[in-house]
Amino acid sequence: MIVGQSIERLDGRLKVTGRARYAAEFKPPNMAHAVLVQSTVAAGTVAGIDTTAAKAMPGVLQIMTSANAEKLNLKGASVLQPLLQGNEIFHNGQHVAIVIATTLQQAQAAAARVRVRYNPAEAVTMMEAALNQASVPRNFSNGRAEPDSRTGDPDAAMTSAAVRVEATYTTPIEHHNPMEPHATIASWDGDRLTVWTATQGISGAQLTLASLFGVPKENVTVICPFVGGGFGCKGTNWPPATLTAMAAREVNRPVKLEVTRQQMFTSNGYRARTIQKLKLAANKDGKLLAIQHDGLAQTSMPEVGEFAEAVGLASRMLYACPNIGTSHRVVAINQGLPTYMRAPGEASGMFALESAMDELAVRLAIDPLKLRLANYANADATSGKPFSSKGLRECYEKGAAAFGWQRRTQAPGSMRDGRVLIGVGMATATYPTNRSPASAQIRMMPDGTAVVRSGTQDIGTGTYTTMAQIAADVLGLPLERVRVELGDSRLPPAPGSGGSMTTASVLPAVQSAAIQLRDKLFVLALARPPAAWGTAAKSDLRLENGVVQGPGAQVSFIDLVTREAVSFVEAAADVNPDAASKDHSSHAFGAQFAEVRVDPDLRTVKVSRWVGAFDCGRVISPKTARSQLIGGIVFGIGMALMEETRVDAETGRTVNANIADYLVPVNADVPEIETIFVEAPDLVTTGLGVKGIGELPMVGVAAAIANAVWHATGVRIRDLPIRLDKLLV
Ligand code: MOS
Repeated sequence: MIVGQSIERLDGRLKVTGRARYAAEFKPPNMAHAVLVQSTVAAGTVAGIDTTAAKAMPGVLQIMTSANAEKLNLKGASVLQPLLQGNEIFHNGQHVAIVIATTLQQAQAAAARVRVRYNPAEAVTMMEAALNQASVPRNFSNGRAEPDSRTGDPDAAMTSAAVRVEATYTTPIEHHNPMEPHATIASWDGDRLTVWTATQGISGAQLTLASLFGVPKENVTVICPFVGGGFGCKGTNWPPATLTAMAAREVNRPVKLEVTRQQMFTSNGYRARTIQKLKLAANKDGKLLAIQHDGLAQTSMPEVGEFAEAVGLASRMLYACPNIGTSHRVVAINQGLPTYMRAPGEASGMFALESAMDELAVRLAIDPLKLRLANYANADATSGKPFSSKGLRECYEKGAAAFGWQRRTQAPGSMRDGRVLIGVGMATATYPTNRSPASAQIRMMPDGTAVVRSGTQDIGTGTYTTMAQIAADVLGLPLERVRVELGDSRLPPAPGSGGSMTTASVLPAVQSAAIQLRDKLFVLALARPPAAWGTAAKSDLRLENGVVQGPGAQVSFIDLVTREAVSFVEAAADVNPDAASKDHSSHAFGAQFAEVRVDPDLRTVKVSRWVGAFDCGRVISPKTARSQLIGGIVFGIGMALMEETRVDAETGRTVNANIADYLVPVNADVPEIETIFVEAPDLVTTGLGVKGIGELPMVGVAAAIANAVWHATGVRIRDLPIRLDKLLV
């Protein structure tokens, strides 16, 4: 079995040798370059754009503004950001013009000479200034969940409970900042469009672009063989990709647009700021009696679109509790559209819930881990459904043992190393198991190699590798004889790589296609069987290293393909998530254990040890899976201690729009991370047992660190990130 083995990622060598081609690296002939011009005000209208000087500059081919841009079909588009479709300004950084020139430098120089005049209006740039305008989200969780929930009577239970915790937690705006910024190359041939673009969803990009330009889906080809990280900001077809396609049509030649690092802070979404009110009530033994979780999140002006950060969903299902209420409200302000960012909903929501649980443990003088175990849920408390699988108890136990949790002393400041304060904290992780319909196709080639094809994308997670693993196992081929093709919308359709669903969605399709191909090869072999096989049936045959092995004789794949005089033997499969999973609540789980060292005078916080134990179902590739766990935990360390996008209230402009001032963890900020897989194949959700892993490991990280910081210092930080100035009290 190759599945389950720690193998090198198949595209690793291409990546480290620079041979993996990313969107910006394709080179269609005669390609021009585009540069965006952005609004410097947060509200109002464009009064006029003077392009005379810019247009006269060398190499300039065209300057597009709302005055000359083509009208798009905006019906059904998820990002309604004004794609040069009108003069209204909804946020600072909104795209108001695009300059196209022969070279990048010419386009940059000309863009600097475009003069935009505004009629500015009063802008509401901070969520706090508009809390009285909070409204119910119009399309919460894309219709998959209600914005509000209520089981039992949380209010009544709160009043009568022995112990209560009530606190407000806030999380800042964060930006994804993958290593590869957005980039698009667009090329039209009549009414057929080809785009090379950095995306987590080639199918979504294809559909959106076809709809915006009013052409059939088949006319749009989206190509994206490699993605240099996405974390959610490449999950949607953002304006730069559309504007590039508009530009290419306008100048009638291929156009490339690379979003700059600074523009990554205005052009492709962000994690919304949230304000969350948490109320917990328990009896003296720590049994939860009520949870009330009310979340407020910023969103953009309705003309741009809406995104509602779903902070309360985990509070609905994580603990056994008879009375649970949750609500979600959004506050529309003059900022761009927020979007999914790694562990959307749970990363922010579980910071609040798992901090509040720690505060409850303190109030009750109970060990925080014991409090979680006392409220362990065997069913989803809101839907009442049983979990399709749940290895959380083992995550707590194995994680605690590996971490040495029992050495923790209860009182804050009670653990020291010399003068340095030591704090330990823990939190639970959980993320829903998502799946979507997916298709795959496999071809057995005359040279005895198999080509596996699916229109998915590998966002750095190991999709090339896991697809090859599963096909190799079913077809009895060594890994090096399996080739994977993905990242092209002409391939069989697959969902976007978001919501931790790629492995659980695409691999069952690959597996099913491989099983059908195996069957076809058996049928072909039996059509002209070697004499030794006698009356052998399919059940007597197996695939092994490129041959069909039967009793006493074998037929090679090469013989099978060539003697049929075909160029390949092929099978395809479409797999839809089965209805069975509707009767269950399906989630991945984990337990995070953190140790921090806090300087007693300077109040610097250093994460010094980490153990994370995870139940993400079956693990296909332990090596790439561990990479995702490490990445998620590092992402969480950033969320806890560093990451925050600061907005100037007056102008609505991001102050730290670069990765020198927007801090992310570097190696020196990250300790050795110990990860543990609690393998609990979830056979209810997928035949493969996979639950998904991309988002899970960052959930609970910020809470575990905040809880450890409290344990070290006695200071409870409820506002992320945990900067040292907040600890100087
Ligand atoms: Mo994820 S935030 O769904 O890429």
